[in-house]
Amino acid sequence: MLEVQSVSKKFGGLVAVNNVDMSVREGEILGLVGPNGAGKTTLLNLISGIYRSDGGSILYHGEDISRLSMDRICKKGIAKTFQQTSSFPGMTARECVMIGSLFGNGRRISMDSAEEEAATHLERVGFPRDGIDKPLANLNVIELRRTQLARALASRPKILLLDELMTGLNPSEGTEAIGLIHDLRESGITIVMIEHVMRVILGVSDRIVVLDHGEKIAEGSPDEVVRDRRVIESYLGERYAF
Ligand SMILES: Nc1ncnc2c1ncn2[C@@H]1O[C@H](COP(=O)(O)OP(=O)(O)O)[C@@H](O)[C@H]1O
Ligand SMILES: [Mg+2]
Repeated sequence: MLEVQSVSKKFGGLVAVNNVDMSVREGEILGLVGPNGAGKTTLLNLISGIYRSDGGSILYHGEDISRLSMDRICKKGIAKTFQQTSSFPGMTARECVMIGSLFGNGRRISMDSAEEEAATHLERVGFPRDGIDKPLANLNVIELRRTQLARALASRPKILLLDELMTGLNPSEGTEAIGLIHDLRESGITIVMIEHVMRVILGVSDRIVVLDHGEKIAEGSPDEVVRDRRVIESYLGERYAF
């Protein structure tokens, strides 16, 4: 479905993503892990068109999307949530999600329908019902993340790129979030997710790609990856080895 081919991104002298190859298969949950600064967010930003790559290509159903603007990429069905949840503080959660319905794909939809859809999406991701019309400035970080996810869903994505969506969740919220991710996949959405909590990413992913210093150092099933020497040395540490 998606083929990242020898993609690189430099920031000044720093190579944040170095010649990375990665493929995403339709219907899978692909986990992207690696230490801080490994290039995970940058890679998702390259796929979603927020950054432009310095080399390589990104094929989506065979079409090179690496030179398209991010709105065109979104309209093709690739939506992303952000690690940082800064946004427009005066906008309400509902309005924020409506943007996804109104502008996130090629549909023509009335304001009324967009308002209704926004409430449905927010409910689906567990956003508190009484907070829907509150300004973003009054929401906590978990509610902001749920808003982002709802907005991404409102654009009706085929691929969802999730950047540390679960950071800061307590264990029961985490379990709930895993259930939600499985539901999303069941509804036909392919998922690429960055997550730090190993229990979560190992449990939820069909396949895992490991980045370190901008390079892909391993890829495989969760079982294969946790046994990989390089992954243990550079990222997991011996305590995860089994
Ligand atoms: N917009 C940017 N400008 C300059 N350097 C950046 C920018 N975005 C990321 N970097 C750098 O690129 C490297 C990879 O960052 P990032 O992709 O955010 O890593 P990760 O998400 O794996 O923690 C880091 O060294 C980071 O400081
Ligand atoms: Mg990151």
